[in-house]
Amino acid sequence: AMATANNKERSFIMIKPDGVQRSLIADIIKRFEQKGYKLIGIKVLVPAKQLAEAHYEEHAQRPFFQKLVSFLSSGAVVAMVWEGQEVIKFSRNMIGATNPLASAPGTIRGDFGVDFGHNVIHGSDSLTSAEREIALWFKSEELAQYDLTMQAWTY
Ligand code: TYD
Ligand code: MG
Repeated sequence: AMATANNKERSFIMIKPDGVQRSLIADIIKRFEQKGYKLIGIKVLVPAKQLAEAHYEEHAQRPFFQKLVSFLSSGAVVAMVWEGQEVIKFSRNMIGATNPLASAPGTIRGDFGVDFGHNVIHGSDSLTSAEREIALWFKSEELAQYDLTMQAWTY
């Protein structure tokens, strides 16, 4: 990689219970893999309500908070950490807008999501959020350090 590029940027990406129930796990992972990002952490779990609340703590005062937390803890999720250059911004682009009416075809939500609340996937929205969310969902020893290739152009 170029000396100036931060190819160690990390984002927390989570397939929500609706994405798991709808058998979208492989399709979603495939998009990140094909984009060139590196999967360094992954696990399947049914999040406890407390974990779901902590994850969405920024929305604690919003009217939709309880529904959101119940939904997230209603079933299995796939929690992941993806690494690579600009992964936070590109993930948000690949995920698409929160409002399904605004999420373009080609994005994950644009292709799979219809409902405002049940929108298949979460992705960190900033470096600060990514660091907080990764620490919340993963222990450092659950994140793998490895090289994908030795090629200089790898993201
Ligand atoms: P938000 O962080 O604004 O969206 P994003 O997932 O795109 O980062 O909101 C978190 C989740 O809360 C969102 O994915 C769906 C749900 N939500 C609602 O149910 N109603 C709402 O009005 C908003 C803003 C979000
Ligand atoms: Mg958000």
